This record gives sequence, C-alpha cells and structure tokens, in this order.
Amino acid sequence: MSGKQAKLSIDQQTIDLPVYSGTLGPDVIDVKDVLAKGYFTFDPGFMATASCESKITYIDGDQGILLHRGYPIEQLATQSTYEEVCYLLLNGELPSPVQMQDFRDRIKSHTMVHEQLQFFYRGFRRDAHPMAVMCGVVGALSAFYHDSLDIRNPEHRQVSAIRLIAKMPTIAAMCYKYSEGQPFMYPRNDLDYSANFLRMMFGNPCEDYEVNPVLARAMDRIFILHADHEQNASTSTVRMAGSTEANPFACIAAGIAALWGPSHGGANEAVLRMLGEIGSVDKVDDFVRRVKDKNDGTKLMGFGHRVYKNFDPRAKVMKQTCDEVLNALGIQDPQLELAMKLEDIALKDDYFVSRKLYPNVDFYSGIILKAIGIPMSLFTVIFALGRTPGWIAHWQEMISNPYKIARPRQLYTGSLQRNYVPANQR
Ligand code: CMC
Repeated sequence: MSGKQAKLSIDQQTIDLPVYSGTLGPDVIDVKDVLAKGYFTFDPGFMATASCESKITYIDGDQGILLHRGYPIEQLATQSTYEEVCYLLLNGELPSPVQMQDFRDRIKSHTMVHEQLQFFYRGFRRDAHPMAVMCGVVGALSAFYHDSLDIRNPEHRQVSAIRLIAKMPTIAAMCYKYSEGQPFMYPRNDLDYSANFLRMMFGNPCEDYEVNPVLARAMDRIFILHADHEQNASTSTVRMAGSTEANPFACIAAGIAALWGPSHGGANEAVLRMLGEIGSVDKVDDFVRRVKDKNDGTKLMGFGHRVYKNFDPRAKVMKQTCDEVLNALGIQDPQLELAMKLEDIALKDDYFVSRKLYPNVDFYSGIILKAIGIPMSLFTVIFALGRTPGWIAHWQEMISNPYKIARPRQLYTGSLQRNYVPANQR
C-alpha cells in the first residue's frame, strides 16, 4: 500500500480504490472493487494497466532505463554473459562461481533434442518460415518431455526451464539447417552457449568450424539485449497461456507466435526489408516523406516503442556492437550507411521528435545479424531464442505465486438480443 487512496465518483456513488506503490515506477490504482459496483474498466492495448505484480524487470521509458533484477542492461551487456543473465532472471540474484558452474553444467546436459524431433522438421516444406517451424517444434516438446510437465512441482518447472534454455539454440539452428537442406549439427558441449550456437548454424559434418570469438561475443550480447522486457506482448501471452495451467512448452510456443508479428519481434526482419526497399541514401528523404503521410501507411520500422519515449538503452549497446562486428569483419555495409542517414534525419524531424519516436533494439540488430551471416528469415528466431529466459522467468513467477486465470472483460457494442431468422426468410 502507498498510504494513498483513489476515489471514483460515478452515478452519485463513490468507490474507494486502494493505491499500491512498487519499489520503482508510478503508483498503481487497484480497480478490482469496481466490479462489485457493476462496472468494468476500459483500457484497450493495456496502455495504463498493470496486468500483474513482478520483481523481474523494470523499465523507465522516459529516462531510457532497463533493469533486470535491479542491474542496468548496459552493465549486463558489457560485463556479463547470456547464461549468467539467464540465471539472474530465473533466480533473482547473480550466481556465485559454483552456482554458475552448476547452472552451466545443467544446461549442457540438456542441449540435445530427442532424436525423433527431427521428423517434425521433415514434415515442413523447406521454404517454410523458420518462425512457423520453431513455433511448431517448441510446442511439440511437450509431447517428448512428459517427465517435467507437472506445473505444480517446482523441480519439474526447473527442469523444463533448463531444457528450454538448453534446447532453443539447437532448435533454432535446426530451423536454419533444414531450410538450407543441410544436415543437422549436434551440439558441442565443450563450447560456450553462443559459440555452440554459431557452430550448429554454420558448421557441417565434413570439416571443423572455427568460431570467431568476436562474433560469439556479439551473438551473446544480442541474446542478452533480448533476454527480457517485462510485460510486452509475447511475455503477456506466455503469462496468459500459463494462467490456464497449460504446460511450459505450450506457453513458450504461444509466446513465439505473439513475437512473430512485425510490430514486435518481427521488426528486425522488417527493418532489413525496409532498408532493401529504400535501396540507396538518395531515396531516404522520399521514404521519410511517405512515413509522415498518414494515407500511405508506411512505418519507419525499428523506430518507436510503447514504453521508451526518450531512447531505448538496448539500441545504444546494439549500435556499438554493430560497429565492433563490422570493424572486426572489415565489412562496409551500405545498409548501415543507409540506416545511419535514416536515423539522422528522423531524429531531427518534427514528426518523429513530437511523437517521441527513437530507434529501438531492432533498428541495428538486423545489420549485425546479417554481417554474422544469419539470413533475414531467421532474425525473429534469434529474438525468440534470446527472449526465452524472460518468458520462463515470468511464467515461473506467476505459477509460484497466487494467480487467477487471465480473463479480461469487454465493452460490448454489438447487436441487442434478437431472434434467429431461418435461411429462407433472409
Ligand atoms: N513510424 C511512423 N510513425 C510511427 C511509428 C513508426 N515506426 N511508430 C509510431 N508512429 C506514430 C503513430 O502513427 C502515431 O501517430 P499519430 O499520433 O499521428 O496517430 C504515434 O506515432 C503513436 O504511435 P502508436 O502506434 O500509438 O504507438 P504504440 O505505442 O501503440 O506502438 C510500436 C508502438 C512499437 C508498435 C510502434 O512504434 C511501431 O509500430 N513501430 C515500428 C515497429 C517496431 O519497430 N517494433 C519493434 C518494437 S521494439 C522490439 C520489441 O520490443 O518487440
């Protein structure tokens, strides 16, 4: 409680509403009591609604702050590793060296997928979108790991969490290999998490694949930057599916489906498509003109965010990583030049400034992924892989505390009750 109380006056009655304070962020008005007085609240898109209480991630969109369990994203991205961030999100604290080794060993003991799972891939067309394949395969995990599906059993929940974090790189790389018609690569547990992923992506059984440490580090950083983002659309979807007591693999598959959309995780792919369509720096002004024309329907992909209204702290680290990767590989990417020109113009233009539209995490991630050699259709798969610990941490947090099935209400504006008209009388 905050010591404050809100009062809602309606139809000559006053409803007292409790107000809660979190450790950070705005106070929250508890509106549950309006139901007993015969009202619902209305907030499409959850613009001003806290759907749950959480201790995992904090975002201050005006200040451009993102904290995981209290630690700033910039520090985690530059000083931590993805596996350590996974541990932090799931357990709430940074691990001791012994705890970290134990966690890493547990992940390594689950990196392979059931041999039968490859037949699921073979059921898809080779040109299927990798997100369609990933969604299906992750959902299918629940058909393989019956021994960890009891959501009321904390040990089962933990094993499922480890399995998902361990198997996502294998599943993602298999999506790529299948689309290329190449043999699947088994994981190699002597490699670090991100290096192992790159080897499964780009290695083949005929020759050794040497992982470039700069690229492995960049990959790790991309995973860290995507690891969690509080109650975004896909995480809320995972929570919503989880509130029905669905198993964790089904819940994560639901999150993957929600992430796929171009307004969410699909934006990284959309940014590169957009840069491809613009084509050259001299066409940027014309493109910006189209974005500003409301009748045109064109959006500047990789710009804007529901929460960040100043800058996205992930975008800053991403841009820095982009420079490092392109320098290390000696690449001069004309699309980077195009992106920088676009950013430069947009940051000065009143349309974007007045609407507080800034580059988000996806604006530069596609350019790095492309430099690493990852095809565009796999970008959102990479996002899903990175976001997995966040989804699981939120699912775990919900299941281990009292919760209710998520069941929103509505403002009904359809027909009044009427009688069915037989077909021959219409
Ligand atoms: N390009 C042009 N105009 C935009 C853009 C954009 N990218 N984003 C928002 N606007 C305009 C929008 O048309 C509206 O203008 P007006 O007030 O004149 O009607 C105003 O800005 C407010 O936009 P909104 O749609 O109400 O904002 P929202 O909070 O509902 O949407 C968003 C946030 C991320 C869906 C949106 O900014 C967007 O579609 N951006 C492009 C897609 C993108 O990059 N998504 C990745 C988000 S970060 C990764 C993730 O977390 O998933």
